[in-house]
Amino acid sequence: MPVTAIVGAQWGDEGKGRVVDYLAQAADVVVRYQGGDNAGHTVVNEYGKFQLHLLPSGIFNPNAHCVIGAGTVVNMEILLQEIDRVEVTGVITRNLWVDQRAHLLLPDYRQLDVLQEKALGNNAIGTTKRGIGPAYTYKVARVGVRLGDLRYPDWARRRFQVTLERLQREYNTYGVEPPTLDALLEPQLALFAKLAGHVVDTVPLLRGWLQANKEVIVEGQLGAMRDLDWGVYPYVTSSNPTASYAPVGTGFPSNYLQRVIGVAKAYTTAVGAGPFPTEISGELETELRQLGQEFGATTGRPRRVGWFDAVAARYAVWLSGITELAITKLDVLDSLPEIKICTGYKLPDGKVLTEMVDPYLLSQVEPVWEHWPGWLILTRDIRRWEDLPVNAQRFLSRIETLVGVPITLISVGPERQQLILRQSAPV
Ligand code: GDP
Ligand code: IMO
Ligand code: MG
Repeated sequence: MPVTAIVGAQWGDEGKGRVVDYLAQAADVVVRYQGGDNAGHTVVNEYGKFQLHLLPSGIFNPNAHCVIGAGTVVNMEILLQEIDRVEVTGVITRNLWVDQRAHLLLPDYRQLDVLQEKALGNNAIGTTKRGIGPAYTYKVARVGVRLGDLRYPDWARRRFQVTLERLQREYNTYGVEPPTLDALLEPQLALFAKLAGHVVDTVPLLRGWLQANKEVIVEGQLGAMRDLDWGVYPYVTSSNPTASYAPVGTGFPSNYLQRVIGVAKAYTTAVGAGPFPTEISGELETELRQLGQEFGATTGRPRRVGWFDAVAARYAVWLSGITELAITKLDVLDSLPEIKICTGYKLPDGKVLTEMVDPYLLSQVEPVWEHWPGWLILTRDIRRWEDLPVNAQRFLSRIETLVGVPITLISVGPERQQLILRQSAPV
């Protein structure tokens, strides 16, 4: 049984959580493979409304196993809070597994994230300030601590000593008093004591599930345009949201990955700094933000809004090997008389490109627009493609042609059942 990846095809917040929650009803396993609690995946279902930061969005299926993979960075305090938050609504978390190789995200990393952003001044990334950059930096520098290390107090102490030496040097440069070893270590040991039953080697589990033909979904965090290698560097996160990282961050051979669902809004949003060519300003900006309730799930920041960028989406389709698209928030465009799609980038010298360009040029390009008439009909209660207004069908069909893969799922509201499934999509 091949693995299905569900990944962001834009700048993040595409509605991945909502799509995973729906598809996870029929899944046996749901895995988060990268990122940390910078994620805010909104799920609205019979249990309530949730903004999941670390828990996989399959947590609401009592029969599914949920895995936080080795490629993630885990703030244990946030994870434990999140477990409590879902458990009070009756959700069962006994099938939650965190790989022992996942790195700890320490409270000090949050503080460093804030200090680094401040020091960057005008060049700040606009991070979520959750400590993601420092956590991955310490991992790559091999001075991080992994969850499994906490099983062995003597070994954990040694590892934390290494982390502390690096932290001390960093704090010194900011003139901030570093913590003591005990202040660093003891709270983490206490948190680990609560989480320990969930921390395992997930390799044999995953292998067993895949060999038994179980339905496995891997859930990406953020979107392709904020990928560390392929996004709008430096305005990116410190991990790889593209689907190619899913086998690495989860621990399964890459040839299992055959179905990749790219999630994209019918328009685009971004939080944080950096080039965003289709950005809308003025009255329409405010209107679209209100219509889409575009405020960050993790930070509450107003999201930047823009039109659908077919160049960026096509780039994401290639990078993640996207085989089908899920288009979300179609309903948000219901009241707009005209809708635009960006089909190319015009460079300052007048040349038009339909390929992604480097971030320096991306901040200077003029989008080449196509203008599409709106449909001016409420779509929230529509459940079949045939019932969509013809202008909405044309708009979506145009996206399919431009991006080159079929749209198999269309979301018309935040709730689980507010969607249209298309089994035999054209293209
Ligand atoms: P994620 O990070 O990719 O999971 O996306 P977020 O949860 O950060 O942002 C998506 C937002 O749009 C959330 O507030 C969802 O509840 C909401 N949402 C998702 N799909 C739809 C939809 O089809 N229509 C509307 N109106 N809202 C949606
Ligand atoms: P989900 O999974 C939207 C953005 C930040 C910033 C950049 C780096 O909900 O789509 P980081 O804190 O990761 O170092 O910030 O990435 N960012 C997100 N934007 N959705 C997210 O997650 C994001 N996670 C990080 O705004 O621009
Ligand atoms: Mg989000």
